[in-house]
Parts: sequence; structure tokens; C-alpha cells
Amino acid sequence: MKTIKSICCIGAGYVGGPTMSVIAQKNPNIKVTVVDLNQQRIADWNDQDLSKLPIFEPGLDQVVEEARGRNLFFSTQVDEAIDEADMIFISVNTPTKTYGKGVGMAADLKYVELCARQIARVATSDKIVVEKSTLPVRTAQAIKSILDHTGNGVKFQILSNPEFLAEGTAMTDLANPDRVLIGGEQTPEGKKAIEALVNIYGAWVPKTQILTTNLWSSELSKLVANAFLAQRVSSINAISELCEATEANVEEVAKAIGMDSRIGPKFLKASVGFGGSCFQKDILNLVYISKSLGLNEVADYWEQVIIMNNHQRNRFANNIVSNLYNTVSGKKIAFLGWAFKKDTNDTRESAAIYVADKLIDEQAQISVYDPKVSATQMQSDLNYLNTRTETENKTYLKTKTDPYKALESAHAIAVLTEWDEFKDYDWQRIYEAMIKPAFVFDGRNVLDQEQLKAIGFQVQSIGK
Ligand code: NAI
Repeated sequence: MKTIKSICCIGAGYVGGPTMSVIAQKNPNIKVTVVDLNQQRIADWNDQDLSKLPIFEPGLDQVVEEARGRNLFFSTQVDEAIDEADMIFISVNTPTKTYGKGVGMAADLKYVELCARQIARVATSDKIVVEKSTLPVRTAQAIKSILDHTGNGVKFQILSNPEFLAEGTAMTDLANPDRVLIGGEQTPEGKKAIEALVNIYGAWVPKTQILTTNLWSSELSKLVANAFLAQRVSSINAISELCEATEANVEEVAKAIGMDSRIGPKFLKASVGFGGSCFQKDILNLVYISKSLGLNEVADYWEQVIIMNNHQRNRFANNIVSNLYNTVSGKKIAFLGWAFKKDTNDTRESAAIYVADKLIDEQAQISVYDPKVSATQMQSDLNYLNTRTETENKTYLKTKTDPYKALESAHAIAVLTEWDEFKDYDWQRIYEAMIKPAFVFDGRNVLDQEQLKAIGFQVQSIGK
């Protein structure tokens, strides 16, 4: 088996950056080069000031500090890095299509295809190409066809190695993964390629936790894992609405069912809805694949997870309006949190964006504080929905860098992200600076409801 001396990863994003940092940290003898077309992103990865890394993940800065310049490099020289590498990871974005066939459902594979064509054009020696991006089942077939028909006669092996890290806990997830999944061709060459990747993870992951399968099982498992996780969130959110109508308490119900070892306690937290770049896009992709295969019942079953999530966001926004005497026009609604979850600066598909959009439709003034998200990012998230002009969005959405300033003179507070620091605020001080009656809508069930009520707040949470 060929020893891997050099790795290239195309895509220095939320997956490529942290994953390759850990692979480099644990394999000091392998040169790992992470490349991206986005020059600013690469400059940020190379910034000596580690607080400027383009991605915020607890613990990432230490790993980058340890490996960067030793055997971990960030570069925009894509061709050079491809040619030098024995193994190339494709870790580019695979968003939902916004045009053409499958619009709003299928994964847009144009970035992946561009990578395949670039690898084929540049490679002058045999390569193992690893799908790290989340891809529709059977994409490896398309990649192989491109590589074999447009390359320079060199041999390619394709592996599927989907990433299961969760943002916010990426570094501990990478250091102690529940499992690493590697799919490959079941031929002697395919098995050798699988073994080469197993050895890279084997530097720190016990072999019993490295699962090898055929290509299609591996590709499909990633979509299915996200579908199952998101389904649990939508299931408990559906029950939260039932709890509100019956005086049952969703946290008590979640605890009661989660103690059943067949169900388990994780991913049973009711909330304003899941976000992030993956759950929605991967389920839509699964729905699209099922429909394309004529499996309409399968498609409808999984689509319901998305329908429920959209409903939960809308319900949260509508509840704010109805509690504020059916009008929020001209009222200041303060948001605590904009990121899709705590401990990340990622805002893709965050519930906050959709709740803000709905409330702005009702002419509310939104004032946001998030410890890690910039004002520019928030504006661009809202603009991306295309609901109104950028100038209008600017007048309705304001960002503050001091939480107390964001909450001052607000009619209501909406908690959209579960950042730990929110629990420790001086809630008496916040109450005194608000318009009365002072409302809190806790979309994450993180605040101490009894304490807030004792101060005088009108408190609403999810499923209670
Ligand atoms: P991202 O958008 O943060 O990063 C992708 C990067 O690829 C961007 O910086 C972009 O400039 C670069 N890129 C695109 N085309 C390129 C090309 N031809 N050459 C060089 N660079 C190129 O995306 P993220 O979040 O890292 O996701 C990547 C993949 O991993 C997606 O398929 C996603 O579904 C999957 N994934 C994401 C997880 C997450 O938590 N974000 C978790 C597990 C999988």
C-alpha cells in the first residue's frame, strides 16, 4: 500500500478547516494543504492573530497554532497542492439548487464537479480522491466518470468519507468521533485506498470505530444520519405545540421518554426550530432523490420534518405578535442570538433570520445582540431572503455589540440562540430598562422562567 505523504483539501470552510487541522495535528509526518478560491478566507486562516480565524470553534485556535507552518498549510495555489498530493479531499459547499431542475430541493453539485475537472486536468500521478462534502448517493459514479474521461491517464480511486462533526463542538467531535465512515470500491485497488485512509484516522481513532462500507452506503448514510437527527427535533417540536395546548410540559415529557433506553435522551430539546447549513439541505436532497426514484411515500414522510420546522419558526413569530396585542408595528423587539446554535459564528438557515423576516413584515424594529456574529453578516442573511430592499432591511434591523444596549427600551425579548452568557445577565437591570409589560419569548428554553417571572417579566417559552 502506498504511504500517504501529502494531502490536499479543496475547501477551507467549516468542515475542511477544522477536519484538516486535526488530521495534520495527529499525523505530523503528512503534509496537509488546505486550499480555497476565497483569498480572504485563506488570509484569515493564515492570520497570526488566532482570534481572526474565519471560523469560531472552541479549541480550534490551539490546534491551528500547533500544526500551522509545521505540516498544515492554507493556500490559494489550488493546482500546485492538487499535483503534489497523494490524497485529495473535496470539502466544498453543496447548497440546495436555486435554479433549474430540482430547484429548492436537489443539491447543487457544480462546485464538486469543478473540483473533479480541476483534479483531472492537473493530476500527473495517481490520486485517491475523497468525498468529504455531503453528496447525493451515487455521486462518486459521476466523479469517477469525469476523472477517468478527462484526466491525463493517471489512476484515481474514489472514497466517500462523510463528516459527522457538529458545529460548536467540532474539535471534540473530531478528536473523539462516535465513528469514522469510509466507503470505497470493493475491488483490490478500492480496498487499498480504504486502508490508506483508515491509517490516517488510525493515528488517533480506535480501529473498532472506523467503519468501512461500499461507496453507496457511505454516501447515503450521511443524508440518513442528518434526516434522523432533524426528525427528532421536529418530533419533539410537534409535541411542544401539543404541550402548550394541554398544560403538559415538554421538558418533563422529553425526560420521561428519553429515559427509555430505546429512545435515549439526546436531541430531544424543544426549540424555535433547527437551523444550520446541513439539516434542511440534506433532507431536501433525500426527498428529491426519493421522488426521482418514484418513491413518493418516502419523500412525503421526510418532507414533513421540514414542514414541521418551518411551522415551528412561524408559530414562534406569530406568538410574539399575538401576545403584543396583535401589533408589533413600530415596537422594538430585541433578539438575543443570531447564530443557528451556540458556540459557532455560523448563521446559515438560522431560525433568527426567518423570525426577524416575519416580524419585519409586521413592521417591528429588530435589535440584535450576538456574541460572535457581525452586523454585516446579519444584514446579508436577511437580504438573502429577498423579501424587501437592502435599504429597508437596514432600517428595520439594527445590531448592537452591548447586550444591554440591544435590550434597552424593548417591548419584548426573543431568545433565538442558546448562548450560555444569556443566563448570567443582570435581568433586574434589563427589566427596568424595558417598556412594560416586559415580555420574554424564550425560543431555546434556556432562561430561568421562575426568576424572570419574580422580577415581573411576562415569560413565554416553548412547550410549557
Ligand atoms: P463552507 O461553505 O464553509 O466551505 C466551503 C468552501 O469551499 C468555501 O470556502 C468555498 O470558497 C470553497 N470552494 C468552493 N468551490 C471551490 C473550488 N472549486 N476550489 C476551491 N475552493 C472552493 O462549507 P462547509 O460548511 O465546510 O461544508 C462543506 C461540505 O461539508 C458540504 O457538503 C456540507 O454539507 C458538508 N458538511 C458540513 C457540516 C457543517 O457542520 N458545516 C458538517 C458535515 C458535513
